[in-house]
Amino acid sequence: MITKKDIEKIFSELLSQIKNKKMRDMTVQVWVDGCKDGGWKTVKELEKMPFTLLTDTHGVNFVEHTKAVTKGAMELAKAQLDIYKKMPYKIDMDRLIVGGLLHDVGKLLETTPDGKGGYKKSKTGACLRHPISGTVMAKMAGFSDEVANTIACHAREGEGAPQVIETVFIHQADFATFNPLVMKNNGKLI
Ligand SMILES: [Fe+2]
Repeated sequence: MITKKDIEKIFSELLSQIKNKKMRDMTVQVWVDGCKDGGWKTVKELEKMPFTLLTDTHGVNFVEHTKAVTKGAMELAKAQLDIYKKMPYKIDMDRLIVGGLLHDVGKLLETTPDGKGGYKKSKTGACLRHPISGTVMAKMAGFSDEVANTIACHAREGEGAPQVIETVFIHQADFATFNPLVMKNNGKLI
């Protein structure tokens, strides 16, 4: 079983930057519950899971992706906070970090081992894409609608939809990790 301690260890650097302790604990709990519900039993197993089934990830795993997107989104926010004399909008860093850590948590239910050493979309995943299952998980854990927006609207479900600013940064950081791999695999990364 993947425990609270395991998740705290995996994401320690990012979790430690969430100021609100309740949100930090809730984030960890959503991951623990997601691992349980998705059938991920060990950290080793979890760390082998690719972050997407849509393209060859060249070994970039789900945990690495989650960390890279969260850090990337934070850096996008920090760049504007550093450079702009006056911020046109308010950025909630706790919401940004929590959203980054949870944006793909639904993939714990969407992806499953195929029994042949690879991975496939689960039955749950066929019924509900990860932004939907992840949103349900976050809302059931008690997160706000704004945090839910970062999960619900980070991918194509969010196109044209109203978004909190943190969703915008998470979306951009997410596609900055995904698009180069698709391009590499299509021979378009020059
Ligand atoms: Fe993602």
